[in-house]
Amino acid sequence: MLSTFTLLRRNSELKSLEERCNRILRNMEASLTARDRVGIQDFVLLDNYTSETAFLDNLRKRFHENLVYTYIGTLLVSVNPYKALDIYSKSQMDTYMGVNFFELPPHIYALADNVFRTMLSEFNNHFILISGESGAGKTEASKKILHFYAVSCPSTKVLNNVRDRMLVSNPVLEAFGNAKTLKNDNSSRFGKYMDIQFDHQGGAVGGHILSYLLEKSRVVHQNHGERNFHIFYQLVEGGEEDLLRWLGLERNCQLYRYLVQGNCAKVSSINDKSDWKTVRRALSVIDFSESDTEHLFGIIASVLHLGNVKFETDARGYASLNNNQEMQWVSKLLGIPAQVLQQGLTHRKIEAKKEEVFSPFSVDHAVYARDALAKAVYGRTFNWLVNKINESLANMDSSRKTVIGLLDIYGFEVFNVNSFEQFCINYCNEKLQQLFIQLTLKSEQEEYETEGIEWEPVPYFNNKIICDLVEEKHRGIISLLDEECLRPGEATDLTLLEKMEEMIGGHPHFVTHKLADQRTRKTLERGDFRLLHYAGEVTYCVVGFLDKNNDLLYQNGKEVMQQSKNAIIKHCFPSTEPDRKRRPETVVTQFKSSLVGLTEILMTKEPWYIRCIKPNEAKLPGRFDEVLVRHQVKYLGLMEHLRVRRAGFAYRRKYEIFLQRYKALCPDTWPNWKGTAAEGVQCLIKHLGYKPDEYKMGRTKIFIRHPETLFATEDAFQVCKHNLATRIQAKYKGYRVKGDYQKQKEAATKIENCFRGMMARKEREKREWAVRIIKRFIKGFMTRNDPSSADNREYLAYVRQNYLTRLKENLPKTVLEKDSWPTPAPVMNEASQLLKKLYIRHMVRKYVQGMTEERKAQLELKVQSGRMFKDKKENYPYSVCRPFLDTRIGTEDISMKVMQAIRHERVKYAVPVVKYDRNGFRPHPRQLVFTQEAAYLVEEAKIKQRIDYSSLKGVSVSNLSDNFLILHVACDDIKQKGDLVLQCDFLFEALTKLCVITNKSDLIQVVQGSVRFDIQPGREGFVDFRSGHESAVYRAKNGHLTVESTRSR
Ligand SMILES: Nc1ncnc2c1ncn2[C@@H]1O[C@H](COP(=O)(O)OP(=O)(O)O)[C@@H](O)[C@H]1O
Ligand SMILES: [Mg+2]
Repeated sequence: MLSTFTLLRRNSELKSLEERCNRILRNMEASLTARDRVGIQDFVLLDNYTSETAFLDNLRKRFHENLVYTYIGTLLVSVNPYKALDIYSKSQMDTYMGVNFFELPPHIYALADNVFRTMLSEFNNHFILISGESGAGKTEASKKILHFYAVSCPSTKVLNNVRDRMLVSNPVLEAFGNAKTLKNDNSSRFGKYMDIQFDHQGGAVGGHILSYLLEKSRVVHQNHGERNFHIFYQLVEGGEEDLLRWLGLERNCQLYRYLVQGNCAKVSSINDKSDWKTVRRALSVIDFSESDTEHLFGIIASVLHLGNVKFETDARGYASLNNNQEMQWVSKLLGIPAQVLQQGLTHRKIEAKKEEVFSPFSVDHAVYARDALAKAVYGRTFNWLVNKINESLANMDSSRKTVIGLLDIYGFEVFNVNSFEQFCINYCNEKLQQLFIQLTLKSEQEEYETEGIEWEPVPYFNNKIICDLVEEKHRGIISLLDEECLRPGEATDLTLLEKMEEMIGGHPHFVTHKLADQRTRKTLERGDFRLLHYAGEVTYCVVGFLDKNNDLLYQNGKEVMQQSKNAIIKHCFPSTEPDRKRRPETVVTQFKSSLVGLTEILMTKEPWYIRCIKPNEAKLPGRFDEVLVRHQVKYLGLMEHLRVRRAGFAYRRKYEIFLQRYKALCPDTWPNWKGTAAEGVQCLIKHLGYKPDEYKMGRTKIFIRHPETLFATEDAFQVCKHNLATRIQAKYKGYRVKGDYQKQKEAATKIENCFRGMMARKEREKREWAVRIIKRFIKGFMTRNDPSSADNREYLAYVRQNYLTRLKENLPKTVLEKDSWPTPAPVMNEASQLLKKLYIRHMVRKYVQGMTEERKAQLELKVQSGRMFKDKKENYPYSVCRPFLDTRIGTEDISMKVMQAIRHERVKYAVPVVKYDRNGFRPHPRQLVFTQEAAYLVEEAKIKQRIDYSSLKGVSVSNLSDNFLILHVACDDIKQKGDLVLQCDFLFEALTKLCVITNKSDLIQVVQGSVRFDIQPGREGFVDFRSGHESAVYRAKNGHLTVESTRSR
């Protein structure tokens, strides 16, 4: 058997890891916090594990919280809730799919899933043994498991087909094989072992059902408060009108003898009508043709009719049937001639000396024969049904399959009156208990052995002694029963009892009225025997044992059936029945060998157990009958099982799993342990401080002695988990972001590469282009002076363009700048000349056009001035830029008196001058005024001298930079004053004006060195001009006026 917590199997294909983790964490938290309130989920972790009271307390606590499942290791204890719980939904199935046993609260789905996954991973066969007494919930459990597989297995169209057949086979089998008993409203009256076949991917590809010993006696007899098989009631209640008419039935169960003996045809918990519909639908799914169903219901109806066949006594006291109506219906439905049927029901065939003689039945005999026929017909039809279902579930593919077997067999049952059927059923349970004991103890022992752990055997009740009592060869009850059945002579049930008393009288588990002590005897009838079964005492009434064991169907009855036209009956009663001379095996022997066969089937498979417990006898929810449950706990061997599981160690787990779960609790093992798992666990538990007696290291597993040790570890893990989750989350987020970053970086690099490539290509093209251009340029440059050719054409065009552009930007702004004309390349010389000429002309024109009259007059004066002084007088160039004014002294600044004196002559120009007098050359400031007629030298209000222009002989100026001028006057009159020696700052202006006014262009003489002048007529003076370092005017020793001027100003 696998350890408590089986291997976490790979199931990522079923669920995303994240979803799964979340779910597990949620559930673990929930289950841990609920630990105290709702008891312990696994009895193995129960502190006081030897105490039955503690065990029951835990079971009760959980039961009242609707927690009907509890583990003992991998064994599932299930308490019948007797109410619908909301724990079998699809989402619950999803939750349990692919999850470790210990990760979620106990559930039948967890077990089913674990079996399934173990099968897939280990590729071996398994079976689930569901045991418990009648009504404990075995059949429900098996259905839940089947449903779970139907939902959780991989699905395809073909697989779904198989799945549907498997699912619907259940209601059909239940209809024909289940009945209401006092113990259970849906009690299985046959044993059922179902193999579900899986392919290597876990798809359910087929199934096979083995049925065991149907309780046929129920067809003809039911105890009070019980019913016949469901199908009869379903047909009568639910059957369509047409069908009933065709079958000769009426919609009233009370009309049929076989249905009313228990006096409870109607049961509130059963809805026959809707069950009928379910069965009808199911039949079509499992390949029942129209004629199959016709024949099947024909048989069911004929059984009902048979039950109503009444025999009359004829004159001789024998049974007779006078064209009985019911018999006619049987004849019609089974397709047997009425005559033959009538003969068969009322006569027995005796073979004497190769002759066949028909001997008539008494009425009692006839009734017995009729019932026997009814039982045989129903029993064989049931077997046919199972075979038919098996055909529809069969998988033809020969590839290897693995199977999960589901064993749902009738549970141990005790009624007020127990008969042969109970004997068989309880014997079967005895055998299964044996198997359970063997397998659980064996595997446990093996586990300790293989792990090298010391093991102490646990005492337990071995029911082998009871099995032997029943089945031992020659001495066992079965042997004695068979012997009585087969021996010649008058054997009766009572002779059987006597024989048993004789042969096994001293057996501790066997007692009869005769053998019992005083006290016990009171509880026993004379025809009773009592067996002390593992599950309790059962008193059997020996009446009917031989009959039922013989299961005698008179030969005649068989032959009648062989004539049937009903295909099913034909099949069930083949004409080639085994040699009628040889006695058929008795029922109990057949049953015994089928159980041996079953044990053999089971022994080759891995076992899993579900132990069902019935909480009360009243089938009520919420009621926990302590005594009843305690009894079941005891006989189911749960305490022993627990003790065995705990024989030393409460808990074990594979090193890998343990390390994987708790490695976060030790820094050395987190996050990854490098060494072997065993070393890792050693390191981990050392860190956790496990004491040496708290654990043992096996070969592949760690064994932990006390549950608290595990709880402490688990609690520590719960605390640690949150921190861990945060860290993992952070890591994961980091990882994600890093991944994104990496991607972006790669993308950026790619883009960059592309961009760089593109740029480089562009750059190269540009360079190539540049090289071409430069080459052409250089070639053009080298051949620039050659005649125009392909080589230099472009260059020259460039030169031209370049020059023109340069020229455009550097054109002289004024005429005066004309020398700044850009120098052209030789090819442009001519063009440049032409352009220059053109441009200058253009500028001149523009200049001239833009000139005012005044400016023009002014310039004319300047031209006049230039004509007179240019290149003659040293300081002339400096005057060029000084514009001439109309006058330097306004008329308002000339004395009124003077103005009056010269009024008639019109003042043209006046300028301040310095006059050097003739005697001593002293300077005096004066005004020099030119009128139309004459020039006047004015001293304030006094005209000092008037020089009529006609008497002005000329004006002398030096060639130097001084501003002296000497006006030479014709001097006829002695009284007249002589020449004037003046200095004027506006020399050029004044003299130009004078020339214009006098209209004498030759008036001015530029002289070098000295100028002679007349001081008075006849008296001469000289002015000497020279250049010097400083300007100076003085009278030299020679009496000359010396004027020194600097060369430049
Ligand atoms: N898990 C369950 N949930 C609800 N009711 C249940 C459950 N198991 C059993 N029962 C009830 O108990 C009855 C008997 O169960 P069944 O499985 O037929 O018993 P068994 O097969 O052991 O004789 C069912 O008809 C049903 O009403
Ligand atoms: Mg059942």
